[in-house]
Amino acid sequence: MSVERTLSILKPDVVANNAIGGVISYIEKAGLKIVAARMQHLTQREAEGFYAVHKERPFFGDLVKFMTSGPVVVMALEGENAVARYREIMGATDPKKAAPGTIRADFASSIDENACHGSDSLENAAIEIAYFFRATELCPRTR
Ligand code: TYD
Repeated sequence: MSVERTLSILKPDVVANNAIGGVISYIEKAGLKIVAARMQHLTQREAEGFYAVHKERPFFGDLVKFMTSGPVVVMALEGENAVARYREIMGATDPKKAAPGTIRADFASSIDENACHGSDSLENAAIEIAYFFRATELCPRTR
């Protein structure tokens, strides 16, 4: 077991549904600690840059449109095996396939409006956290 950090984005559907607190309670109950948080409305350039790995996929245009449709909440989370732990509580990409009790099962409406983002590897977590936060914005949680 090792303490890791991962990037979480609560997507525009969660903000629009007034469910920020609901999703954060799942995160905190899972033992993950928020070490940085900000609400921001992504520009097209910011969303395209964040999802650049998907730029050849057929859903890329709609994904960028959705991610820029309203504010999001961007957070860095810290905890034991945070990358895998957060992916576990998010549930499958398609909420219809997400396990009961996961964030996507309980808050998402479809595969393209699926409530949350979580880094898929420790390497990508570091890249994604640095995309949104300066080192000085990360608050170590000693208690
Ligand atoms: P992906 O990295 O496959 O999933 P995850 O978010 O679970 O890591 O895809 C990134 C996002 O792209 C996904 O959260 C929602 C969107 N997406 C679609 O809109 N349609 C699709 O068919 C897929 C696979 C993803």
